[in-house]
Amino acid sequence: MSTSGTSGAGLHPDEDSHGHRGGQAAGADGAPVGPEVSARLRELTEHAGVLTRKNTHLANALRAARTEIVALHDDLEALQRPPLAHAIVLAVDATERTADVALGGRRHRVGIGPGIVASSLSPGDDVVLNEHLVATATAPAPLHGEVVTVKETYDDSTVLVLARHDEEQVLTLSGALAHARPRVGDALVADLAARIALRPVVRAEVEELLLEEVPDIGYEDIGGLGGQIELIRDAVELPFLHPDLFREHRLTPPRGVLLYGPPGCGKTLIAKAVAASLGRGQDGASSLREGAYFLNIKGPQLLDKYVGETERRIRVIFARAREKAATGVPVVVFFDEMDSLFRTRGSGRSSDVETTVVPQLLAEIDGVDELDNVVIIGATNREDMIDPAIMRPGRLDVKIHVGRPDAEGAREILATYLTADLPLREDLLADRGGAQAAVDGLIDMVVEMLYARCPATELVELTRADGQVEVLHVADLVSGAMLANIVDRAKKAAVKELVVTGVRGLAEAHLRAAVADEIAENEGLHSTVHPDDWARVSGRRGVPVVSMRVLRRPGPPEARALPGERVQEPTPADDSRKDTP
Ligand SMILES: Nc1ncnc2c1ncn2[C@@H]1O[C@H](COP(=O)(O)OP(=O)(O)OP(=O)(O)O)[C@@H](O)[C@H]1O
Ligand SMILES: [Mg+2]
Repeated sequence: MSTSGTSGAGLHPDEDSHGHRGGQAAGADGAPVGPEVSARLRELTEHAGVLTRKNTHLANALRAARTEIVALHDDLEALQRPPLAHAIVLAVDATERTADVALGGRRHRVGIGPGIVASSLSPGDDVVLNEHLVATATAPAPLHGEVVTVKETYDDSTVLVLARHDEEQVLTLSGALAHARPRVGDALVADLAARIALRPVVRAEVEELLLEEVPDIGYEDIGGLGGQIELIRDAVELPFLHPDLFREHRLTPPRGVLLYGPPGCGKTLIAKAVAASLGRGQDGASSLREGAYFLNIKGPQLLDKYVGETERRIRVIFARAREKAATGVPVVVFFDEMDSLFRTRGSGRSSDVETTVVPQLLAEIDGVDELDNVVIIGATNREDMIDPAIMRPGRLDVKIHVGRPDAEGAREILATYLTADLPLREDLLADRGGAQAAVDGLIDMVVEMLYARCPATELVELTRADGQVEVLHVADLVSGAMLANIVDRAKKAAVKELVVTGVRGLAEAHLRAAVADEIAENEGLHSTVHPDDWARVSGRRGVPVVSMRVLRRPGPPEARALPGERVQEPTPADDSRKDTP
């Protein structure tokens, strides 16, 4: 019989089981089975094997189909799932396990699901609500939002802010913000629909403007401005240090001081020294009094091209000043380069920002009136350009001129930079018989070179509108900054000489070269000054300058030599020639 007959069609179940049993138990009578029976048995066994394989195959296919159905079912479920809403927590009742949330601009009280630790929720958190409006999960808070500025803070974790279009709103503070306690003027990210402030935004520029450090400069570091220092100390320090005496004499302390004068002559320096001195307090103790503040504001940095931004910054500065002053510490608000900000209204220079900036500043200055310990110091070299309203009595009413140093002033300034403890050249020390005498000699030499009025020191010739001709000498343009620079140059040359040749100490030659270099450098600068600006540069007012001519140092080397300057002679033998003072 052929085994090909194993296809199911040729078999009957009964026949199959019967034949199978017969194969196992042989004949019922125990007689040996015949050859056809054993062939049938083999055939059936083979058939059973085939069926088993088929069965396994089918079972596998079924299993695969089942997984596929499950996956499809999941997909279907995801597609049918209702959208879950995000809401912002406004308040939490951890015992009741409920929260007040803002959802689409409306308040809802919702239950807190088991997936959330109720006590860990705080205002401003983001929660996910299920279709039954139960909070089921927390989510990271959104990073975006509207930026608002704090105008007032209250104790109950709310703040008054200025939002868009200067609209005022009271907002709840988020948990994190309530902890950090925002200050007036801070910028916050808020969800205005939910009426909650979420987190602070750091606006770097304003923080930079508000460097609150007390500078480390003493009056003794300033040379030649004794009179001016006394004026400003009387105006600023006396009322700070003796408020009772002022009250007794019914004296109103000045609100502010304006320092004006040509560039580089010590205005900024004086303002810093005042702040440092206030910081040290009445007893002059060297340790800074806790919390004396110096808000150093550079005019041009405050300007912003965006409408309203400059005003906002001014508001922030004064808010910060008031906040500090209210705690009883002296606060100096220093506006450097004030002319850039507070130009006369309607002057047409710049894009007329002054029409809004100046009133804002006036309002703020008037606003500090009730506080005894805020003083405003302004500095400018264009006092003619500052809006007169700012200098009215009750505002910056003390005006102090910081002019160019005369020869005596220059000596004092140089003495703050050229001191006896500097390394000095051996032969110089031997020559003068001591460090102090050597330094004094160096100072005299520099002053003599700078303040000589001779053809070698002529710089420019100015013609004024009335036909008057005036020649400016180096002496007319000396500034503290220039003197500081000369000493710096000389010191650098001394260091270089020490490194290169091993010869140690500052020598006359270093200073002489430094003076000549400084003058040469200034010559180049002066040729670029516009006639209109000469009044500012020279620090002299009067009839306007209509034209100017740069005077080049003329002719032969002898004539170009400054007093005391060694002239490079063609014959080296002449090098030892003594200098003529
Ligand atoms: N009287 C002075 N005594 C000592 N150093 C001075 C004096 N005046 C100026 N200087 C030096 O010159 C530098 C510039 O001075 P300062 O910044 O005070 O000038 P300014 O009057 O504010 O000028 P600007 O109008 O350009 O702002 C100082 O840092 C200091 O090194
Ligand atoms: Mg300055």
